Amino acid sequence: MKKILITGGAGFIGSHVVRLFVNKYPDYHIYNLDKLTYAGNLANLKDLENKHNYTFVKGDIVDDGFIQQLFAQHQFDGVIHLAAESHVDRSIANPLEFVMTNVVGTVNLLNAARHLWKDDYQGKRFYHISTDEVYGTLGESGFFTETTAYDPHSPYSASKASSDHFVRAYHDTYGLPVVVSNCSNNYGSYQFPEKLIPLFINNIRHNKPLPVYGKGENVRDWLWVEDHARAIDVIYHQGLNGDTYNIGGHNEWKNIDLIRVMCRVMDRKLGRPDGESEKLITYVKDRAGHDLRYAIDSTKLQRELGWKPSLQFEEGIEKTIDWYLSNQEWLDNVTSGDYLKYYEQQYVTR
Ligand code: NAD
Ligand code: DAU
Repeated sequence: MKKILITGGAGFIGSHVVRLFVNKYPDYHIYNLDKLTYAGNLANLKDLENKHNYTFVKGDIVDDGFIQQLFAQHQFDGVIHLAAESHVDRSIANPLEFVMTNVVGTVNLLNAARHLWKDDYQGKRFYHISTDEVYGTLGESGFFTETTAYDPHSPYSASKASSDHFVRAYHDTYGLPVVVSNCSNNYGSYQFPEKLIPLFINNIRHNKPLPVYGKGENVRDWLWVEDHARAIDVIYHQGLNGDTYNIGGHNEWKNIDLIRVMCRVMDRKLGRPDGESEKLITYVKDRAGHDLRYAIDSTKLQRELGWKPSLQFEEGIEKTIDWYLSNQEWLDNVTSGDYLKYYEQQYVTR
């Protein structure tokens, strides 16, 4: 039985990747290592609790001794590394936490893999999940390709860029069998409601203001999270060692246009008069260093590995809104406690 370590599996994207691998590969044993920060939630994986090929391990990737011991104990064949501090606004408030988890945590995992596999890399793989934000920002036109130069602007993207460089350096220096992917913005179920789409669904539901940064003119390229998980499956199994794959949906939206679509769909679903939720739109101070536009060219992944997105955005956003509306208890649970303090600091004191 192959043993695969997935880090950050209790988070948004990680929970979809864990679910896909546990269900699709009964002959793999999936170890989900997660610190359970505010963003990690075992309720995201309730359906897997009794699966024979699934084990949850609570732990911190920054804890080097613990990581070395975990690798020695379980003798993993592969690593799919998603654990990270992932929210740009939090990185602006507290950059060091991002350096610790995203950079030091990644290097700890690389060291542990290298030590365990001891230069006999046959059948082994270290897969690092990264973001399109490392490429910086685009103007009105053009796309990020795998060869676009790195130009990060936020502490979050700088920490992810740094971790990407370490992963590639371990390939070039020690021959570690690594693969990297850089994906655009994900949306779908189980996303922590500090990120645009679930935050605004929750606020519309509760008739709270919708805080649009700047003029709402920034553009993001949205991909349904289950399509990202499918891409990770394909790249883990078929990607070339040392290679990079961009993942994206060719689905660009100006924030304000996306928000208006969400308001219209929510009005319909909540039985409100047309235009009611749009009244909640409130323009607030822009995010510092706010990148104007992201857009991914995923031609390489589509051409070489045959992946393509399965869902059109119109269908995806309806499914996503339906999920949050019918999982109000999940939303209420994650928006209590610590989250409230964060929310007050982020928005109320502006
Ligand atoms: P998330 O914040 O929802 O989840 C991160 C998970 O990592 C949480 O479960 C958290 O508990 C865990 N974690 C954090 N610090 C840890 C530590 N020190 N040790 C162990 N576990 C720790 O993030 P996400 O949106 O699911 O993103 C997952 C990965 O995908 C990240 O690496 C992110 O950079 C990348 N990514 C995200 C997006 C997106 O749109 N969300 C797009 C492209 C790439
Ligand atoms: O591009 C991939 C990245 O997408 C991932 O690497 C990150 O982990 C993920 O958080 C996401 O980053 P963004 O900064 O693009 O996502 P966020 O949901 O925070 O913001 C999306 C856009 O909406 C961005 O232009 C900022 C804007 N925004 C966001 C929030 C939370 C607002 O206008 N108001 C808000 O309250």
